[in-house]
Amino acid sequence: MNLERFTAGELIRDTYTIVRHLGSGAFGDVYLSRHRYMGLQALKVFPRQEGTDALEEAYLLTKLSHPNIVRVFEANEFKRAGESYGYFSMEYVEGGTLSNTVDSGLPSGDRVSLGRDILAGLAFAHSQLPPIIHRDISPSNILIDRTHDCLSAKISDFGLAKHVDPDSLVASAAGKYLYMAPESFLGKHSTATDVYSAAIVLFELFTGKHPFRVGLSASATASEIANVVRESRTQLIPNLSDCSSEFGSQWDYLFQKALAHDYEDRPGSAQEFLAQFKNACEATDRGSASIGADDAHAMVTEAKRLSEHLKRRPVHSCFARSPCLRMVSASKGLAVTLRCLRDKCR
Ligand SMILES: Nc1ncnc2c1ncn2[C@@H]1O[C@H](COP(=O)(O)OP(=O)(O)OP(=O)(O)O)[C@@H](O)[C@H]1O
Ligand SMILES: [Mg+2]
Repeated sequence: MNLERFTAGELIRDTYTIVRHLGSGAFGDVYLSRHRYMGLQALKVFPRQEGTDALEEAYLLTKLSHPNIVRVFEANEFKRAGESYGYFSMEYVEGGTLSNTVDSGLPSGDRVSLGRDILAGLAFAHSQLPPIIHRDISPSNILIDRTHDCLSAKISDFGLAKHVDPDSLVASAAGKYLYMAPESFLGKHSTATDVYSAAIVLFELFTGKHPFRVGLSASATASEIANVVRESRTQLIPNLSDCSSEFGSQWDYLFQKALAHDYEDRPGSAQEFLAQFKNACEATDRGSASIGADDAHAMVTEAKRLSEHLKRRPVHSCFARSPCLRMVSASKGLAVTLRCLRDKCR
């Protein structure tokens, strides 16, 4: 996006002082800003195209108040050097994007927890009347909050992709195609389209691998990328358990369904996907009941001690968030975490 950058100290509408540039996407630039009265906020700034741009639908975003969705506070427009701009002010989420988190050696319990957050946020948007479709679920639109006592995921940029022409979307981030559903290439979008993209994001989060083989050369044009990705969508859908030994076969059906090439074969919305996700968690719970409560308690205590030793946040608080995660902590997930912490302490 070729916008003239705003510089630190610039004031927007007498309210937001630019602190620094955070990043750019297909839609505009994002800045860290300081609101005159309300402290730090992220500001997404974009060129105004009256009657067609995202400001016209900003009221939809104000309905999206959920812990797993980046909160939009305000939307408005302003002029600068004769040019019209629009902006959204948003909650500032400090922990970076999911893209930076996938390879960071997170224990599987944390990965499952983040996956559940993503589906919970998406399910809330899909439950609105009419449902709000994201259209661009990808790791760069999932921000990681580290301000509380454990990690949580927040989805950003609901519906904004609708206002970006497809070429500039690819020009700014060719990787976005990797998360697109087959029908998106034909311009069709529904809640099931978001389900597909979320399933790819979760598959990568859980296994570190994209479910389909997509060979992209760095010099590929937008249409070449589209063709390669579209063709990859006819490949056999892999089983999650074949791609990661940390996940049992109870997860396979979930991903086989959510990654179905035909949207009519998928869960129709994120609520449905989330319900199936919880079933897989519960099945894992039952399958790992072999570990005794005392052993689980000892493992959690040791993990807590080691993470404090490493000056990290106690991992046990994350594991304790749901029955599923308690289970993960009491089994493989915690065992892996412990191994990893012990290695680090050596
Ligand atoms: N609310 C926020 N809090 C903190 N950082 C943010 C926030 N929103 C965006 N960012 C940062 O700004 C960067 C650019 O975001 P932006 O949404 O413009 O691009 P993108 O997500 O890569 O592409 P797209 O235009 O498809 O959304 C992000 O990668 C993230 O690092
Ligand atoms: Mg974004």
